[in-house]
Amino acid sequence: MKKILLSAVAAVALCSSAFADTVKVGVVGPFSGPFAIQGKNFKAGIDAYMALNGSKVGDDDIEIIYRDLPQADPAQSKALAQELVVKEGVQYLAGFYFTPDAMAVTPLLEQANVPLVIMNAATSAIVTKSPYVVRTSFTLWQTSAPMAKVAKERGVKKVITVVSDYGPGVDSEAAFTTTFKAEGGEIVDSIRMPLSTNDFSPIMQRVKDSGADAVFAFLPSGPTTLGFVKSYNDNGLKGAGIQLLAPGDLTQESDLPALGDSALGMLTTFHYAISHDSPENKTFVEAARKAIGNPAELSFPSVGAYDGMHVIYKMIEATGGEQNAQKAVDAVKGMAWESPRGPVSIDGETRHITQNIYLREVAKADDGTYYNKEIATFEKQGDPGLAAAK
Ligand code: PHB
Repeated sequence: MKKILLSAVAAVALCSSAFADTVKVGVVGPFSGPFAIQGKNFKAGIDAYMALNGSKVGDDDIEIIYRDLPQADPAQSKALAQELVVKEGVQYLAGFYFTPDAMAVTPLLEQANVPLVIMNAATSAIVTKSPYVVRTSFTLWQTSAPMAKVAKERGVKKVITVVSDYGPGVDSEAAFTTTFKAEGGEIVDSIRMPLSTNDFSPIMQRVKDSGADAVFAFLPSGPTTLGFVKSYNDNGLKGAGIQLLAPGDLTQESDLPALGDSALGMLTTFHYAISHDSPENKTFVEAARKAIGNPAELSFPSVGAYDGMHVIYKMIEATGGEQNAQKAVDAVKGMAWESPRGPVSIDGETRHITQNIYLREVAKADDGTYYNKEIATFEKQGDPGLAAAK
């Protein structure tokens, strides 16, 4: 009797292992080149999530397949996504740092029956390009509109805007300009610079000559933002009393050691600060620091990736590991949870993340490290840009 029972157990074990599948997730991001730290943050967020939640959903093993896309390159992005879907058989696509790379992949999703979970790319319109896009990062409308309110409250009257000339820059300029004008402020000039710009001195001269009390700026986080804030300081704008206002892309934590005391007091608005004070964030930061190796490299793309994995795990659970993009996306509409950044939810209509936006100030801790200190909260912000994008 005992023997029969044992062999029955063995048979069941055999069966279930025979049916246990691997669900593959293809993650595209900048893992080499000038933006490699941003890609490292995707991986740190994913590793942290899997370290804390396991690498299985139900019976299914989860396998992450990474592809390197060092800079904005839509044709290469599409080629990598196609290869991941066709050759690797991924059921989910995720990651995507730059907007043009995410945009290039949206036409593939419906035919491939694959959801795309965006962990960074932040132009509002991306989610409107396919019903299978879900975003766990932020948009520039979401982060920039509150800064216009802060500027007005703090007595800023005249602003010059300076943005990178592509999707998120254009969104950021529109969000700040629309909101600041509605608050009674004046925009004295608007500069759009090519994404490849790395000499900012001529722009700083134009800012100085504009007569503005403040410059509002957006560039994608990386060597670009570090160079811009340095140039602002080196060209004496701070000394001349022209305030620098920006979404948090310009003071990502991994840039703060290089900026040093010169960034102290700088105000930004953003969805996440590594210093966010909550038990969920403490657990996340500990796991993500372990995953990234060098704690000074931890930055915001890690939280977009961590929450992106949370959404993907829910999708896999809801579909029982079967490939059904519609069912997967439907399962996360309206989903709400406590993220390391604070309370969040996936909007049932837009599939974009609703979240708090924080006003932060660059500060120095007792141990000499720099951080973004949250000083005010704009609660439960949706994406005001989606109305404009339709
Ligand atoms: C984007 O290309 O959408 C993007 C990249 C980096 C950022 C923000 C937006 O910091």
